[in-house]
Amino acid sequence: MKIINVAGARPNFMKIAPLMEAYQARPELEPLLVHTGQHYDERMSDLFFRQLGIPEPDVNLEVGSASHAAQTARIMKAFEPVVLKEKPDAVLVVGDVNSTIACGLVAVKLGVRLVHVEAGLRSFDRAMPEEINRRLTDAISDLLFCTEQSGVDNLRNEGAPDESVFLVGNVMIDTLLKNRAKAEASGILDELGLQPGGYASLTLHRPSNVDDPAVFARILDALEVIQRDLPIAFPIHPRTRKNLPKLGLAPRVEAMKNLRLLDPIGYLDFLKLMSSSKLVLTDSGGIQEETTILKVPCLTLRENTERPITVDVGSNQIVGTDPQRILEAYRRTMDGRGRPPRTPPLWDGHAAERIADILVERLA
Ligand code: UD1
Repeated sequence: MKIINVAGARPNFMKIAPLMEAYQARPELEPLLVHTGQHYDERMSDLFFRQLGIPEPDVNLEVGSASHAAQTARIMKAFEPVVLKEKPDAVLVVGDVNSTIACGLVAVKLGVRLVHVEAGLRSFDRAMPEEINRRLTDAISDLLFCTEQSGVDNLRNEGAPDESVFLVGNVMIDTLLKNRAKAEASGILDELGLQPGGYASLTLHRPSNVDDPAVFARILDALEVIQRDLPIAFPIHPRTRKNLPKLGLAPRVEAMKNLRLLDPIGYLDFLKLMSSSKLVLTDSGGIQEETTILKVPCLTLRENTERPITVDVGSNQIVGTDPQRILEAYRRTMDGRGRPPRTPPLWDGHAAERIADILVERLA
């Protein structure tokens, strides 16, 4: 059974890696890997392939950056001939980026079964491009693999047939558990002169935070205070880096001596950076899950989450972008008042194996 697996943007790579490995033990499955080229910088793409041992893609569509419509259309146009040529039994997409919906749509229009890994997550915030991608991809998928019970419940409420929905755990956590020991050897802390537990890590890239000067400035108000008593390591996403001068915020950031701007860093260095942090501030989805397993407090700089289990059992707090609210949560966290996190069901390092077994059974 031939399966085309799609990866396009940075957060896809840690999700596709354990699947490509799990297929190796199942000779019934013949995997192909397609990279859409949505992310293309060495530090946003190739570095992750090398560190995670992902095989060289069979095809790279090299679509690059563009507006949502142009990027989605380019991916669709480039992916269609690949599906026509390879005639796969299924196309598997992960996550919620533009590559996910673009390739999913191509597959179903050609009558090829579609598999969505990380299905059912909902922020119920339609201003998020990812929410649109998630809803649409789930609506056209034949097999839906969920990381948490809320995903199963959301899909059921939207009318997905029970027999197409599976709670399997989290492939991104498979990758984290596999690489944790290797990441311990990273020299990133020494390189940056940071002490374990003596700094915070920060990531910011959601358009709602970094494309809007008023919101971005509010977040900076909070960071300004925090960095006075705790250094902040800030590997900066290209979108955010470009916006700083565009929004006139570069001088403010430069003036914060303890806010350490870094180029995007590789998976292993970032895992080490997160796991040794006193706390993590982020607007990423995946990092809310990774900090849950690393048992590092996470302050999510958004008004909602599509990953509620990280709040229910983990150490995640949804703190929005109001500086007072961020600082209150920061102080509470520094005081150490918080529940000890628990591990969500099935986040045990074996999600990809469960998916591969179900694919063997269901695609037969
Ligand atoms: C995309 C995903 C988002 C995900 C994020 C992770 C969509 C709609 N968004 O957002 O869900 O959380 O990836 O990183 O799919 N750029 C580079 N080099 C690259 C890639 C991008 O410089 O390798 C720059 C380009 O200027 C581009 C901008 O970053 O315009 C944004 O890239 P894009 O892929 O459009 O969206 P992200 O913000 O990365």
